[in-house]
Amino acid sequence: MRVLVTGGAGYIGSHTCKALAEAGHTPIVYDNLRTGHAWAVKWGPLEHGDINDLAGLSDTMRRHRPDAVINFAALAYVGESVERPDFYYRTNVSGMVTLLQAMRLHDVNAIVLSSSCATYGVPARVPIGEDTPQNPINPYGRSKRMAEEVMRDVCAAYGLGGIALRYFNAAGADHDGELGEEHAPETHLIPLVLQVAAGLRDHVSIFGTDYDTPDGTCIRDYVHVTDLASAHVAALSTCQPGGFSAFNLGTGRGSSIAEVVACARAVTGKAIVAQEGPRRPGDPPALVADAARAREVLGWSPAHSDLEKVIADAWAWMTIHRARVPAGG
Ligand code: UFG
Repeated sequence: MRVLVTGGAGYIGSHTCKALAEAGHTPIVYDNLRTGHAWAVKWGPLEHGDINDLAGLSDTMRRHRPDAVINFAALAYVGESVERPDFYYRTNVSGMVTLLQAMRLHDVNAIVLSSSCATYGVPARVPIGEDTPQNPINPYGRSKRMAEEVMRDVCAAYGLGGIALRYFNAAGADHDGELGEEHAPETHLIPLVLQVAAGLRDHVSIFGTDYDTPDGTCIRDYVHVTDLASAHVAALSTCQPGGFSAFNLGTGRGSSIAEVVACARAVTGKAIVAQEGPRRPGDPPALVADAARAREVLGWSPAHSDLEKVIADAWAWMTIHRARVPAGG
């Protein structure tokens, strides 16, 4: 299959391109390189363009004739989404509308969307199944829910097949060291903890120690980026015309911030200074996936998502492999 991967130069997108190539598909990356990296595009052509540029998307589809699309092109900082919601709706929602329009023009009938557990907001209970009400609590989560809704309606109206994959906490890096997480600014817990271990910052703050959880810190479901990548390959082969479905991608196991820090100390052998701080606004106490549907329908299970393995791969990327990345890319 020829697969147009919008946002394919980013963290999860680039790992998915590698998984696509390994499964015999050809990924064609379309990315504006605002947050993605040209060096992360290694398994097919890179087309430089914006998700809201209908002419650019159309020209790329005309030349490459994709059989399907996977859309990772999105803004994904929760805090920034509160400050600049219009940018989030433009990229994540309007971009989705534009992409679907281009697909219709070129008769491309299958799409997989990168969605998020942020669409659930603060769930009444965990683990979270796909039928949990989606009540997002910030513009980022709302933009992803809206993108899902746009996709569902367009799929129903025009007979396209659409799948939304709702990721829990993506982490880790490619086992071969070819790819890894590279955000600027970095806001995610595991890379920040590892930056302390690497001596790049003097401490990590723990955002809240008074949550109603066993050790008082927030619980998240960390899933290896390679496992997320393989779910996209599986989703492509189950995408049915005229249908919409959504799948949670997580391990079903939650880890607290304190457990992440302790595990990172064990993996790296470094004394990582963690300072207790106030809660970060908008953080749900616990987010853990019920991923039974992905297991049953996609045949997917997270094979690499033990916390220790996730942290070890992220550490290897940060300390060994990342040095090969061209500066400024
Ligand atoms: N945390 C800290 N200190 C830090 C950074 C994070 O204590 O310096 C805590 C957060 O408060 C949270 C946990 O570590 O409790 C994980 O935080 P991340 O920022 O790594 O991840 P989030 O769970 O906030 O965000 C992820 C995705 C988002 C998505 C969100 C859904 O990265 O895109 O899940 O809740 F919106």
